[in-house]
Amino acid sequence: MPTPFQLQIDTACESMTAGFFDYYQNMVSYFHHNAAQNLSYSAFSNRTNRATNALISEKEAIFYIVAYGWQHHQSMQHLLAETIDVTSDVPEYLRVIDYGCGQGVATLAFIDYLAQKGVAQQSALEVHLIEPSKVSLDIAKRLIERLADVYGMQVSVHCQQCTLDDAVLQLDSECRETFHLLSNVIDIETVQNALPNLAKQMQSCTGKNFLLATCPKYLQAQAGFHILRQEMDFAENCHDECWEMTYQMYRVTQASWNEYTSTQRMLMMEWTGL
Ligand SMILES: C[S@@+](CC[C@H](N)C(=O)[O-])C[C@H]1O[C@@H](n2cnc3c(N)ncnc32)[C@H](O)[C@@H]1O
Repeated sequence: MPTPFQLQIDTACESMTAGFFDYYQNMVSYFHHNAAQNLSYSAFSNRTNRATNALISEKEAIFYIVAYGWQHHQSMQHLLAETIDVTSDVPEYLRVIDYGCGQGVATLAFIDYLAQKGVAQQSALEVHLIEPSKVSLDIAKRLIERLADVYGMQVSVHCQQCTLDDAVLQLDSECRETFHLLSNVIDIETVQNALPNLAKQMQSCTGKNFLLATCPKYLQAQAGFHILRQEMDFAENCHDECWEMTYQMYRVTQASWNEYTSTQRMLMMEWTGL
């Protein structure tokens, strides 16, 4: 028998007809009207160490999306819009690798971006998701397949349930363009420790490569960006910006929609694989 939380994820997934925002809005509405059944900010934050630990239940997955989903989607979309022109020379096959993907928000932002630019149906998308949480990984796969279906995109999703130190990039397909997404993971110490080995694997990824990393600008994240830039010294182009991001989102601590501003650091690096 599915739990109410699993049923809510089903409902929100089905509600997605025009983009990830549908999913987010449906989740916010559910969360707002069922506050007593859902987690409080302090309960979630204490158990997950402010969303850095792997999630262990659908109840946590719902809280996460309501509290952080839109912010993470918006920052990845901003970085894409600033740095990536997807409309010229559209490749037949595209690869996305989402490192510490959680529920796949960065990949969903990427798919929404392709759709907004009118090129969603022009490439077959190969998605690789790496994430230690089984709950998050299952939801990510499901949402990505659903959103691709909404846009009439061809997608294949490959999952590795592990931490980044154990991840092995499987890059033997025909893709000649790869997007490496690091959304809100660069501040995590175990992720930072895995970066040297990961950078070596990224360097040997043939064809054109783009790395897109986003995170709120605070001390641990700055340390992660520093390591990343050091380890990726082979990158030929680099765009590094801090953006004062202002947008409407639901604030779990205030139980209302508000305008919110946060400073995000965003890094895009580009190289041709060996
Ligand atoms: C703040 S969440 C970000 C999730 C997603 N990328 C997003 O933008 O919404 C951090 C994620 O990193 C994952 N994580 C934590 N340690 C990790 C590690 N060593 N390797 C891979 N993922 C890790 C967690 O399970 C969690 O899903």
